Amino acid sequence: MKYSADESVLYLDNAATTFPKPPSVIYESVKCMARYCGNPGRGSHALARAASEKLFEVREKLCEMFHAASPENVVFTLNTTYAVNIALKAVCSEGDHILISDMEHNSVLRPVVSLTEKRGAAFDTFTSVGDEKSITDDIKRKIRKNTRILICQHASNICGNVLPIEKIGLLCKKRGIFFIVDAAQSAGLYEIDVGKMNINALCVPSHKALYGPQGAAAVIFSGAVPDSLKTLVEGGSGINSKDIHMPSELPDRLEAGTMPTPAIAGLSAGIDFVAGKESELLRHEKYLSRILCEELSRDGRITLYLPERIGSVVLFNLRGASSVSVSEELDRLGICTRAGLHCAPLAHRTLKTGDGGAVRVSFGAFNDIRDVRRLIDGIYSVERYL
Ligand code: ALA
Repeated sequence: MKYSADESVLYLDNAATTFPKPPSVIYESVKCMARYCGNPGRGSHALARAASEKLFEVREKLCEMFHAASPENVVFTLNTTYAVNIALKAVCSEGDHILISDMEHNSVLRPVVSLTEKRGAAFDTFTSVGDEKSITDDIKRKIRKNTRILICQHASNICGNVLPIEKIGLLCKKRGIFFIVDAAQSAGLYEIDVGKMNINALCVPSHKALYGPQGAAAVIFSGAVPDSLKTLVEGGSGINSKDIHMPSELPDRLEAGTMPTPAIAGLSAGIDFVAGKESELLRHEKYLSRILCEELSRDGRITLYLPERIGSVVLFNLRGASSVSVSEELDRLGICTRAGLHCAPLAHRTLKTGDGGAVRVSFGAFNDIRDVRRLIDGIYSVERYL
């Protein structure tokens, strides 16, 4: 069943944001705004309480889904980039050494670089492509005495690469390294257990594979957090108003200002849409990716990047044409893909896609095999033209 308003548009940019959203998600966001959207935690009247209860309900759902110790460990933010910044800057001290993978998005790379400039931190990258042992061996080689944080993505936003999070988490635990996972592309598709995987802070968006609206995300701390947790933003918290400092406890310590209640309400329905079906959704998207890769690999003009790592995302280039021109031509045919560097120049450097990046196709729950056929026809007609 198609939910898109315009049936002629084929949306294949689900790694940027999933579309369409399940009707239940739209209904919950609208219902929130229409019926009860007071300001959560601000005041004790009925609508402020109703909004607070909705936030708490979603904290509980996220806590259960990702196996955190308590709903209070779920800190809402505006997007995954904020989540990453909040987690990273909460724990990074002057002179810390940080490890990141060589596939990171700018949402990780830029705040890490900023910490090198503002807090005298240093960082190194470790290899993300290869078997588990070669990845963990490279991490071991790069760990220094002052390595305090390892932050990496779970799944790549440009190809099907997935990092061995559980193995990396174990290594971090043994070495006393704070482990932050950017689950922008994996939350809702891959099983994530922050306890079992020794993840200290997990960053998840609402609007990707959890099928919620844009405008909300969360950092989920697995358990106890250091008292020294630094704040990125300060402001009203709805409690202890006389205190000129932020409250010490979570989530209030890291949640300054009004939270995006309508987006969080929609996320509640998104979690219900996905919960328990993660592996089925992943299998479906992998199936579509595999069919696409099999077809494109027969074409001598097409280069596929890491096609052996099948995930929800397929990355390719057409020889003799820029990725942007291919994506623009597909757009003219009503097919939405994303070209260029996908805010991940480090990852493109690792995959050696050149200065122009590549064309990314990313599947979602509402795509089916007919979409793959239409895309393949589209690519072949673009190929004849370019
Ligand atoms: N990070 C998102 C993407 O990969 C926006 O397109």
